[in-house]
Amino acid sequence: MTTPTVMVIAHRGASSYGPENTLAAFDLALQMEVRHIELDVDVTSDGHIVVIHDATVDRTTNGSGAVTSHTLAALRALDAGSWFGTPFAGERIPTFAEVLARYKGRAHLHTEIKGHSPSLSQRTADVIRTHGMEGQVTITSFQKVRLEEMRAYAPELPTGWLVREVSDATIVQAHAMGLTQLCPHAQAVTPALVRRLHAEGFVARAWGVTTEELMQQVVQAGADGMTINFPDKLIAYLKSHQYL
Ligand code: G3P
Ligand code: CA
Repeated sequence: MTTPTVMVIAHRGASSYGPENTLAAFDLALQMEVRHIELDVDVTSDGHIVVIHDATVDRTTNGSGAVTSHTLAALRALDAGSWFGTPFAGERIPTFAEVLARYKGRAHLHTEIKGHSPSLSQRTADVIRTHGMEGQVTITSFQKVRLEEMRAYAPELPTGWLVREVSDATIVQAHAMGLTQLCPHAQAVTPALVRRLHAEGFVARAWGVTTEELMQQVVQAGADGMTINFPDKLIAYLKSHQYL
């Protein structure tokens, strides 16, 4: 019997150990031998794609207000590390372009279209194309409309739909959209669901892994991967169970 490989995807970087969606958190993930990074993108008021999860900068920087109301220069002036811990003071909100350039050839970038701007999908695809990284990025989103925009504009990019659960209707729509992955919440991942997704031709990868118990459940269900804040623990588990 061959053991499946499981994608260990550092969620917003190794975000249990460093400030999420910063170069520090991404570098930490690579130091843990992780080769998949998840990140979130939104757009600035002057049209640049930046890497940040929330709609506002309040939680993860020393600034305030909507991401989309800041220019890139204003966002770059903010401290995106101190909230997590003083060793990370001075970390900046990265641009998507600098993340692509930094990790080209070193990690696969699972890029979640998080913002709601209609231009976001196209602008994100343009940056990926400029860097020639179409083979090194997977686009994900909870927003069906953003995935539809991406499929229409950049059909060469693999796409995954983040959903809470997978219904028959989800599968029908995912086929119609030409998606590559379905990404259910970890609590919804069962061996039967994974078998169904594989039979339908989808990659099955989970999100929302908050405990090691859930992490193990997702692996045992046969999923192809998961986003996780503590990728080192997943790697250790996979090694000790002959998955790696
Ligand atoms: O893997 C997807 C996951 O990142 C979705 O949740 O809130 O972290 O964007 P969130
Ligand atoms: Ca995300």
